[in-house]
Amino acid sequence: MELKSFIREIPDFPKPGINFKDITPLLKSPAALQATFDQLAAPFRDQKIDFVAGTESRGFMFGVGVAQALGVGFIPIRKKGKLPAEVFSETYELEYGTDCLEIHKDAIEKDQKVLLVDDLLATGGTMKATAKLVEACGGQVVSCAFLIELSFLGGKEALGDYSIHTLISY
Ligand code: PRP
Ligand code: MG
Repeated sequence: MELKSFIREIPDFPKPGINFKDITPLLKSPAALQATFDQLAAPFRDQKIDFVAGTESRGFMFGVGVAQALGVGFIPIRKKGKLPAEVFSETYELEYGTDCLEIHKDAIEKDQKVLLVDDLLATGGTMKATAKLVEACGGQVVSCAFLIELSFLGGKEALGDYSIHTLISY
């Protein structure tokens, strides 16, 4: 299935010059959504993944589906102040200012294999912080899987040695 046809481009959102990639048509299509989960999971079916981790909030929409496709559980990486037990925190750069993500310290056991999932790879800052949090818990990052990559923003380079799996590239 050609998933790109389910991504709507909205010019000048959230500000002039940005061509926003709107995933809501894909979310509305049961067939496209199922194909997305299956295609994100496909390279990892034989890799003995222990968990999928997804980053709030759009990473939750795809991470849980990929976890179900692989028959494993899901670990939420949340924005600051949302997780109730003890956390590791990671601050990362945004275009203007910084943001902070957190993971429960006891979410992962040492050397468990974790697949990271998010909707979009832009600068890579969000995924890099996500990977650091998984590693802080002792987990092994198997790969970072994205529905969309904006290749002109250099996210792949920012992620260095982490392996990347993307379904749609602009
Ligand atoms: C968006 C998107 C990715 C991130 C990619 O999340 O969902 O998580 O930006 O950008 P980066 O590669 O430059 O870090 P956003 O922070 O807008 O929040 P949301 O998922 O809650 O919508
Ligand atoms: Mg996000």
